[in-house]
Amino acid sequence: MCKTIDHVLVPGTFDPITCGHIDVVRRARRICPKVTVAVAESLGKNGVGTTFSLDERVELARSALEAEGLADVEVRPFTGLLVDFAREVGAGAVVKGLRAMTDFEYELQQADLNYKLDPGLESIFVMSSPQYGYLSSSVVRQIASFGGDVSGLVPQNVASALKDRF
Ligand code: PNS
Repeated sequence: MCKTIDHVLVPGTFDPITCGHIDVVRRARRICPKVTVAVAESLGKNGVGTTFSLDERVELARSALEAEGLADVEVRPFTGLLVDFAREVGAGAVVKGLRAMTDFEYELQQADLNYKLDPGLESIFVMSSPQYGYLSSSVVRQIASFGGDVSGLVPQNVASALKDRF
């Protein structure tokens, strides 16, 4: 007998949350009644620190999702393994967005590792909307660091936070 999944996680570093992430959360919310955005403590990509602290990333994600009409989506920080956090909050699956083949290779490795650690945790992938295929937190940080315009790529509160940071 299969137990239906009624709670999924959308995990990530969210440094910072982008319109692409929000698109994935919205899709996750369409397929599942309870969605938790799990913000990883994370040392940042390539071992260098994140631009925003864990608390800041959580707060930016919360405000952005609220402004986007997704206030019923919980945002929680986590440290350690994703499978442990999923167990702690009672989530049955992880939902991630796929943009290109390069994402697929990385995400398949993560999904395989998570399966090895907990075969009961399902991995679900949604295809990113075409307009966000090129979008990532790192390109947003790069554009913002050179004073470029990030409107349309990130929610308004994130655009303001990036302006203050750089
Ligand atoms: O948005 P990102 O940075 O690609 O998200 C990656 C994230 C945070 C989901 C992934 O690194 C993660 O799950 N980190 C927690 C540690 C863990 O469980 N790693 C997977 C098994 S080694």
